[in-house]
Order: sequence, then C-alpha cells, then structure tokens
Amino acid sequence: MADSISIAQPTHFIGKSAVIQTVGVVGAGQMGSGIAQVMAHHASLKVVVQDVNPQGLSKAAATVEKSLSKFVEKSQITHEQKAHILARIQYETELEALKDADLVVEAIVENEAVKKDVFQTLDALLKPAAILASNTSSISITRLAAATQRPGQVIGMHFMNPVPLMKLVEIIRGAQTSDATYAVVADLTARLNKTGVVSRDFPGFISNRVLMPLINEAIFTLYEGIGSAEDIDTVLKLGMNHPMGPLTLADFIGLDTCLAIMNVLHDGFQDPRFRPCPLLKQYVDAGYLGRKSGRGFFTYS
Ligand SMILES: NC(=O)c1ccc[n+]([C@@H]2O[C@H](COP(=O)([O-])OP(=O)(O)OC[C@H]3O[C@@H](n4cnc5c(N)ncnc54)[C@H](O)[C@@H]3O)[C@@H](O)[C@H]2O)c1
Repeated sequence: MADSISIAQPTHFIGKSAVIQTVGVVGAGQMGSGIAQVMAHHASLKVVVQDVNPQGLSKAAATVEKSLSKFVEKSQITHEQKAHILARIQYETELEALKDADLVVEAIVENEAVKKDVFQTLDALLKPAAILASNTSSISITRLAAATQRPGQVIGMHFMNPVPLMKLVEIIRGAQTSDATYAVVADLTARLNKTGVVSRDFPGFISNRVLMPLINEAIFTLYEGIGSAEDIDTVLKLGMNHPMGPLTLADFIGLDTCLAIMNVLHDGFQDPRFRPCPLLKQYVDAGYLGRKSGRGFFTYS
C-alpha cells in the first residue's frame, strides 16, 4: 500500500504539546477516569471530565482516588502529590464545561452515531485550535473527523485498560489528520510516560484487528463446547504465556465493547472471519457485560 503518512519518531516532537494546558475528557467510565488521571498526574494538566450520568462521575472520582492511593502505598507518589493531582481534575455533567479545553479526549460508548453527535457538538463549542481525540477501540477516525469542520485536528488516542498501568497508546491518523496534530499528540503521549505507536485508520487499527478475533475465537471454542471457560483461559495463560486468559480479558474489556468492535471489523471488512460469536451476542442481550455488570464469562462480587 502506498505510504502517504510520515511516521516520524516521537523525539522529533518534544515540546509540541506545550500548547495543551487544559484537557477535556468526555465519558467517565473505566477508560475516561483513567485518561483523566494520567493527564493530571504525568502531564500536570488541568482536566475537566464530563459524563451525562452524575453517578458515573462520582464513581470515576472514587476510582481515581483509589488508584492514586495505591501509588501512595507503593511510595510512587506522596500524599501531597496525590492531593495536587486530585485538585487538577474537575467533574461536570454539561459539555459546555469543556469549552476552554485545548484537547478533548472522547471516551464514551463504542457507538459511531453517538460519538459523531458528540464530535459535532464539541466542534461547535471548542476554540478553533483545539484538537479532538477519540479513545475508540475500532471506529473510523476519518468518519468521526468528517462530522466536524476541523478534520485535520481529529485523531485517535487509543489508551489501554487499565490506563494508569498500561504503557501503550495507539495513535490513529485519520485520512485528514495533520502532521501538526500528530506531533502534539505524540509528544503528549511521551509526557504521559507511555509509548505511542502509529496505526493507519482501518477497522480495529492494529490492536483490535489482532486481539478481538482471538477473543471471539475463544468464545466460539466455549460456544461449541470444546472446553470450559477456565480451561480455555488456562491454555492461553500457561501454554502461550498470556498474562490473562482471553475470556477473562473479554470480561475486563466489557462484552458490549467486544461485540461493538467485532461488528465494526465485520462491517468494515465484509469478511465472515470477523462474524461475532452468537454466544457473545446472547451474553450482551442478557446484560452479562463482564466485570462492570458483575457477570460475564465469569462472575464477580
Ligand atoms: N474497556 C476497555 O478495555 C477499552 C479499552 C480501550 C478503549 N476503549 C474504548 O473507550 C470507550 C469507553 O469505553 P469504557 O470501557 O470506558 O466504557 P464505559 O461503559 O465504562 O463508560 C462509558 C461512559 O460514557 C458515558 N457516556 C455515554 N454516552 C455519553 C455521552 N453522549 N456524553 C457523555 N458521556 C457519555 C457513560 O455514562 C459511561 O460513563 C469506548 O469507545 C471503548 O471502545 C475501551
């Protein structure tokens, strides 16, 4: 495939993210809370987190507090640093509270129509220079960008779960993402103490193009009665040295998110090898969403 994208090393971008002073995070779920935390902690940025659900906001505040307390227990930060990080994060229910942000990272439900709606609203609200990033696991950055009047300033910033611990950020350049936008996000990623990789904008990017079919196949293996959930996970853990079995990982990611990603791969490539397993669909229909709902392939108290 012809290469029209310049993929330079992050070291070329040092200092470029100084233009970012305030970050908005839309969606205070398991990803949004972690993104807010690392922005306030490692980059010392002011963060405004917005969610339509006030309970989600209180849960996010508690999650950030608990996570930082673990860093204090391990002597990685002091009580005082923890207090400073917490003070930099503000929680809001109205999107208008993000109007002064230089960068907004969207981390709401993995649904293209809902994300486009938020992107359109943010585009009208934010200052012209602001960058719009999505933490989407699989949805086209190019299509989200097309919902705005600033496609050059739209980019994928795909964090991994749990955000405070995982070292990777997959940076996705849409067809129109500018070099300047990429430079800012690559530099910010380095400031967050994470390694950035660049992916072209095709369904599932690199991470979920590879991971999600593995998880889906593990679900088919369970569905077809080839092995128990425990044994399937044990094979991948002890046999392939994976730190976590694929069904445990699916529960951790959220089965609704896994299904949404498989649907994006299936629709995007029109290839039957990406068809979601019927058992995954049934679990989502039943509300078995994994860890966040207390039950998925395993149960959680
Ligand atoms: N869970 C993972 O392991 C993982 C990893 C990487 C990326 N992602 C991606 O991150 C995004 C969020 O995933 P999550 O696991 O945090 O989901 P989640 O269900 O934990 O949280 C989503 C949050 O978004 C809020 N929300 C929904 N619609 C909204 C709107 N219109 N405006 C504001 N808030 C809204 C919900 O109230 C909820 O708090 C998805 O795009 C997902 O694909 C998830």
